[in-house]
Amino acid sequence: MDDVRWRMDFIRLAFILLSFLRFTSTLKPGTCYFPERWEGAWFQSGVRTPVIIEGPRLSTKGRCLGSDGDKFLMVDEKRACYRCVVIHEKHKNVLQYKETFCQGREALPTLCSLITGDALLYSLFRENASPVSCPFRGPFTFTYNRGHGECRSPVSNIDTCTEDSKLLLSYQACPDIYGSESTVEELQCLASWKEGSVRYLVGQIHHHHVTSNEDRFRCFVYEKTATSSENNDGVDYRVAQSGDATCNGLFSATEGSRTMTLKRAPSVNKCRFPSWIANYNHWHTLDYSETYNFHHRNSTLKISNSSGVDVKVLCVQVKHSREDGHMILVTHFTMGCQSGFSCMSFYRRDGHVAEIQIGLQTKRMEDACGPTFFNKTNLPFVTLVTSSSERPTQPCPYMGKFEVNNLLHLKEGDFSKESEMEVERFSKKITGQNNNNNNCDSKAFTNLVIGCNKMDMMEFNTECSTPDLITAYSCHGRWEENGTSFLIATPLNRAHSAKKFCFVCKEIVPNSLAFSVSTRCNRLIQPGISGDLIFNVTNRGRCVEVNGSAKFSIFTLEYFLIVVASFFLLR
Ligand SMILES: *[C@@H]1O[C@H](CO)[C@@H](O)[C@H](O)[C@H]1NC(C)=O
Ligand SMILES: *[C@@H]1O[C@H](CO)[C@@H](O)[C@H](O)[C@H]1NC(C)=O
Ligand SMILES: *[C@@H]1O[C@H](CO)[C@@H](O)[C@H](O)[C@H]1NC(C)=O
Ligand SMILES: *[C@@H]1O[C@H](CO)[C@@H](O)[C@H](O)[C@H]1NC(C)=O
Ligand SMILES: *[C@@H]1O[C@H](CO)[C@@H](O)[C@H](O)[C@H]1NC(C)=O
Ligand SMILES: *[C@@H]1O[C@H](CO)[C@@H](O)[C@H](O)[C@H]1NC(C)=O
Repeated sequence: MDDVRWRMDFIRLAFILLSFLRFTSTLKPGTCYFPERWEGAWFQSGVRTPVIIEGPRLSTKGRCLGSDGDKFLMVDEKRACYRCVVIHEKHKNVLQYKETFCQGREALPTLCSLITGDALLYSLFRENASPVSCPFRGPFTFTYNRGHGECRSPVSNIDTCTEDSKLLLSYQACPDIYGSESTVEELQCLASWKEGSVRYLVGQIHHHHVTSNEDRFRCFVYEKTATSSENNDGVDYRVAQSGDATCNGLFSATEGSRTMTLKRAPSVNKCRFPSWIANYNHWHTLDYSETYNFHHRNSTLKISNSSGVDVKVLCVQVKHSREDGHMILVTHFTMGCQSGFSCMSFYRRDGHVAEIQIGLQTKRMEDACGPTFFNKTNLPFVTLVTSSSERPTQPCPYMGKFEVNNLLHLKEGDFSKESEMEVERFSKKITGQNNNNNNCDSKAFTNLVIGCNKMDMMEFNTECSTPDLITAYSCHGRWEENGTSFLIATPLNRAHSAKKFCFVCKEIVPNSLAFSVSTRCNRLIQPGISGDLIFNVTNRGRCVEVNGSAKFSIFTLEYFLIVVASFFLLR
């Protein structure tokens, strides 16, 4: 007997030595590896440090020696004992396991058979998991119960966020229900799966009170109720929430630490955006910093910018609609998990040019288009152009030949880098700084030719320049407001991703026009006086007047009649 025991001890020692050697050597015979997709840090309720799965190791259990399907033989090297761990992958972000006590070495099947039916089930939730779409999309109204009765009145609500992996739960406090409180929680969905007929969801709750993973991770059981039957009160989902960061004790959607009954909220999306703008799906601002895209049969507008925060806008109510293309709408917006209402005023400026004024955001739909949140006189205009590849052009206004009197580059800040360079080149050309080699007098020769060579082109040139020094702009659309013209134009010599500019123009005295150029159609700009780039021009003749030195005054009246007539005819 002694002999046998000694031999057993020897074998055990040899085994431990061997396993140590195996562990330290690069070749690891008898080592089993966890699936690579399980690797990483996991959270387990009650365990302070993250559970790490890496190669053959599960940090809290030791090293894997062998496996059979979902059963793993683990050696705890510190305590020199063995256990069977059965791990189920519920979702790429959720593992659940049962295990035996740590004991002497046995064959895997023998060890695993020691797991009893009532053994505890542990859940591992992946830390820093990539979120998944939530299985139910709001908006909903809901009632909830934290064990002291159903909080029905006032009713709580769930709002959608722009990311479909998030929901915003706004709990209301019911005066008659103990334990009900008014609070807002953001739920981020991390995993959902089905077991038999039970559907599970694991999520993280974000709330300023919630600081630890122990409070953050929650498990849910949910069920969809048939909406067609009439005797279910229009209930759409029942949801039960776990009281801790495990899925234990959740067996149905009607029992949990907190239960909720969700009803789909009536849709706020009751109208469509004006067809003249929504028919072109894609619009962008003149400097391309924001895009406006229409979706879902003209009913949804998505505003995106470089920051990655998208705003989703739904049409709620038409306040005012005119044939000439002016429409005022109450809209509902969602930005991240914030939502509310704002008033939007749409102006059709030209076939491919539109402007929008967006009111301030409010929680109350009734306030959106009221004077406090929507003051037309001081809201800026967002100028949009279509993203159609053909870039349709229009005849330019003020056809003729002009002399540029003075050009000032006042403010570079409002131009993006690219536009700045363009404007730089543009001003150099006009002021003649580029032509030192050409023996041109820098003051004498700056011209602006509008619509002469081509109806839809404005060309800045110098009398002694070679053709490649000409900066030409094609005209896309224009409109007039109270004697001030707004003209949208693109520089031609930048074929790709050409930003567009707003030329704000006004007649200062007969024969003279004042311009301000910028990437916004700013209403506070005074042409020739304020703006990013300003210049005044004096008319030097009509297009047909080949003789540049002809006296202008001879045809002043005739010229302006033609300009005015063509302006109105071409509108
Ligand atoms: C958008 O509105 C226009 C005008 O009402 C309509 O012709 C077009 O079919 C609409 N688009 C969709 C997808 O409903
Ligand atoms: C992008 O849009 C969001 C929401 O309108 C705004 O808060 C943010 O300042 C914008 N970022 C940039 C870079 O324009
Ligand atoms: C709207 O804005 C203008 C200009 O700032 C101001 O004079 C006017 O009082 C405002 N109106 C309301 C109703 O706030
Ligand atoms: C038009 O301009 C004149 C003079 O600048 C100003 O008095 C008037 O209020 C303006 N009208 C509108 C509708 O802006
Ligand atoms: C354009 O003309 C106006 C009116 O004469 C003047 O006030 C302004 O300074 C001029 N602008 C430039 C850039 O010369
Ligand atoms: C054209 O210019 C020349 C020289 O500047 C001048 O002599 C001639 O009279 C002009 N012709 C017309 C039609 O104005």
